[in-house]
Amino acid sequence: MFVSLEGPDGVGKTTQVALLVEALRAEGRDVVQCREPGGTELGERVRSLLLDGDVAVGDRAEALLFAAARAEIADEVIRPALAAGRWVVCDRFIDSSIVYQGIARGLGVESVRAASVFATDGLLPDRTIVLHGVDRRGDQPDRIEAAGAEFHRRVAEGFLRLAELDPARVVLVDATGAEDAVAARVRAAVDGGGA
Ligand code: TYD
Repeated sequence: MFVSLEGPDGVGKTTQVALLVEALRAEGRDVVQCREPGGTELGERVRSLLLDGDVAVGDRAEALLFAAARAEIADEVIRPALAAGRWVVCDRFIDSSIVYQGIARGLGVESVRAASVFATDGLLPDRTIVLHGVDRRGDQPDRIEAAGAEFHRRVAEGFLRLAELDPARVVLVDATGAEDAVAARVRAAVDGGGA
């Protein structure tokens, strides 16, 4: 089972990824945790390039670099884990590209999705959980977090649209309230229930 967690910056996703992995392991499941961009040597280097405010990156180059990092993690980490019968929980995947590059940067949902599907050779999560409703961005923004209020408004709206684009895979989860209450909603959403 391949699960991705998604949402705008500052929604509390990283905490919820850790809590979900903990809950699944407590149920006896063998879980691989990963994050995007990253998880491989190339992916970590691409991550530094993409998040470093000193490196200028054009929109299409940005989309292709995220896709290149995704190709590596799909081949080196995710497919082998799934083939061994393990669970994979990934902090961001294809939907971040669809929303940040396709919608918020304006490159178009279809072309960004196509680049990403090419990168992963068709691999998609079985379930994608989109957290929404909270914005706790810190005061040390990386290059993408520093993109401005209008950009982040488009990101937040874009994530809400995702569930409409792919209702069989994507579940929206309300991220407001106590961490453990959100964690319970996330766990339920893995099994298919919306919240
Ligand atoms: P990260 O520090 O992982 O942010 P977060 O903790 O919010 O997940 O940085 C990843 C940043 O890259 C984040 O702003 C979202 C952005 N991003 C894209 O724009 N496109 C993508 O395909 C991915 C995976 C991330």
